[in-house]
Formats: sequence, C-alpha cells, structure tokens
Amino acid sequence: MTPICKRNIGISILLSFVTFGIYFIYWEYLLVKNIRTLKNDTSSCTGEMLCLVLVPFYNLYWWYTRGKFVKDEFAANGASSAGNEITYLLLGIFGLAIISMAIMQNDFNSLELKSASDKSRNVVNSDSVLSVSNIQKSFGDNHVLKDISFHVNKGEVVSVIGPSGSGKSTLLRCCTFLETIDSGIIAYDGKIAADTVNGMAVYSKDLNEFRHIFGLVFQNFNLFPHYTVLKNMMDAPVSVMKRDKDEVREECMALLEKMDLASKADSYPCELSGGQQQRVSIVRALAMKPEILFFDEPTSALDPELTGEVLKVIKQLAAEKMTMVIVTHEMQFARQVSDRVVFMDKGIIIEEGDPEEVFGNTQNERTKQFLQNYNNQ
Ligand SMILES: Nc1ncnc2c1ncn2[C@@H]1O[C@H](COP(=O)(O)OP(=O)(O)OP(=O)(O)O)[C@@H](O)[C@H]1O
Ligand SMILES: [Mg+2]
Repeated sequence: MTPICKRNIGISILLSFVTFGIYFIYWEYLLVKNIRTLKNDTSSCTGEMLCLVLVPFYNLYWWYTRGKFVKDEFAANGASSAGNEITYLLLGIFGLAIISMAIMQNDFNSLELKSASDKSRNVVNSDSVLSVSNIQKSFGDNHVLKDISFHVNKGEVVSVIGPSGSGKSTLLRCCTFLETIDSGIIAYDGKIAADTVNGMAVYSKDLNEFRHIFGLVFQNFNLFPHYTVLKNMMDAPVSVMKRDKDEVREECMALLEKMDLASKADSYPCELSGGQQQRVSIVRALAMKPEILFFDEPTSALDPELTGEVLKVIKQLAAEKMTMVIVTHEMQFARQVSDRVVFMDKGIIIEEGDPEEVFGNTQNERTKQFLQNYNNQ
C-alpha cells in the first residue's frame, strides 16, 4: 500500500469519528432539550426527526463516496484494493451505529408519561392534593434535593422552613414544574405528573392540565407592569383558560372587593405599595381557582409593616381552608398559620410535624439549633 492510500484511509476513518462525535453531541442536545425541558408535544419534533433520519443517510452516502474515492486512489497507485474491505466494513458499522442511535432517539422522543407503573401508583398518596416521592435534584455537582418525600392534604397549610440554600425554593419550583426533577414522583390529586422510567424523570404530556391545579405567588410579585390590576388578574383566565370575559371580570371584581382592593382595579402595579402588589399577586393566583397555592417567601421583599397585611390575607385564606404550601422565614407566622411544618436542611427533610411540636418541643438537635439561631437574631 502506498503512503497516499494509507493517508486516505486514515483521513476517512478520522472524519467518520468526527461526524460520529458531532452526531452524538447533537443527539445528547436533543435529549436534553426534548425531555429535560418538559417538552410535552412530540409532534413539534418533526423537523428534528427528519434531521435524525437524514443525517445517518447523508453520512452513509458520504462514507460510500469517500470509500469509492479511496478505492480509486488504490487503483491509481497500482495497489490491491483488498485492504479497502476493512474500510468499507468500518464505515458500515459507523452507519449502522448512527441509524440505531436515530431509532433510540425516536424512542426517547416518544418517552412521555402515558400511564404510570403500578409500583409508582402504590407510592402515591391518592387522597392528597400533592404527593411527592423520592425526589432527587442536582445542579451539576450540587445535590440539592436528596430523596424528598412529602404530601399535602386538601385544606391543609404546610410551611416549609430551613436555612438559606437548603433547597426550599428548588423543591417548590420542582413541584410547580418550573424546574425538572432528576428522578422521583410528583402527583396531583392522585394523578402522576412526573414519574421515573429507567432511572430518568418523565413528565406527563398533559402537564398543562396539571398546571391549572396550582397557583404560585413569588416574593417579587411578578405582575405585568403595563397591565392594570384587573387586567393582570383577568389575563390568564381569559387567554389561557379561554373563559368568558364578562364572567371572569365579575369574579375578579368580587375577589378584589373581598381583599379590600376594589378601588385599585384600574391602577397600574407601580401605583401600588409593595404590600398591595403582593396582595394583587395573591388574588391573581386565586382568579385561576387553584386547588393549591404555593408561596415562596411572600413577604421577604416587604418591610415589616407591609408584611402584616400580606400575612393577614394568607391567614384569611387558611381560615377558608385553602390548601397552601408556604416557604417562609417568618417563624411566628409559620407557627400560627400552619397545620404542619416541614424543616429542611441540606436537601433533606430533617423533621416534619405539628407546629407546636416542631417550634415548642423539638427533640431534633438540628431543628433546635436552627430555631435558636432565629430566636437570637
Ligand atoms: N437554577 C439553579 N442553578 C444552579 N444552582 C441552583 C439553581 N437554583 C438553586 N441552585 C442551588 O441550589 C441550592 C438550593 O437553593 P434554593 O434556592 O432552593 O435554597 P433556599 O432554601 O430556597 O434558600 P433561601 O432561603 O436563601 O431562599 C443552592 O445551593 C443554590 O445555589
Ligand atoms: Mg428560596
């Protein structure tokens, strides 16, 4: 074999590896994009699937012509083309590997939760509004949620407390699908929204329906600044739930009346105090008629005076038996309003129970230490 032929085979194989590598990265990218970002409509993957089918055929064609070129090089140099068989074989294997990866990709794309396994169903507490089992979540090397399990029953108020960085917000974000879990089970009303299949989290294709079950109140209000209070409230029920505009307006006005905000219906968020803005974000969440409300530190952006008016609204909702999960640093409030307190530290639920037990008589050293630090502040 002449040096030029050897070089061509080398280049051919090298290029095959490079193509294979690029394809592999692309495949990983699709996997992350389609599954980990809760893609629940696989029909929109058509373009990507076309690519996945075309790429291996393009690769095969390319390898074929490249191989032919190598063969011609052999002939031109008067060498036997017998050695070329190995090249063809290698290229064929690459082609097959790539096609099988495309098929695997297809399988992964169709990975959506159609029906949960019996094993998963047995784990779920079907009487609870929210049931979370064995949730794991990492950001890179940072293992933030370590096998978290808890449930929230109808009409119950659960406060989640714990030091900064313990994973409280991440847990809330996972429960409300703003963040994906790595593994575990999330169920609402006994129906599984996220399950684990072959060690990987898979989400229901009906995730949008699950999203209507809960409302979310963030610490920074998240109101649309260019909408009036009433339009902020009406936007989602009218444009997302496609409800009748007049009916929604009537309901929203009744809610504003109830929360003492009726006079602010036509004001813009910038014309309201922080406390009023937060109360508006609570009524906006209520306008969607959620079964459960999640709060992430609803008062942390407010000064103590304004905090009181927001806490009063939450207490009022608790008295009306609204199901709520509240992440808070307001220990006194958590003690007063909660039916159950969950104490988290370093991604683990350390203790969970009656607020009087946890705040007044905890036997857990870590909880004691945390509450002591709070009392000393
Ligand atoms: N999107 C993200 N990307 C990378 N790391 C994140 C992300 N969100 C949270 N983390 C990390 O996860 C850990 C838990 O954060 P999280 O916000 O859940 O804590 P927390 O208990 O709510 O704290 P705090 O009481 O201060 O609000 C932290 O180490 C944080 O840096
Ligand atoms: Mg937080």
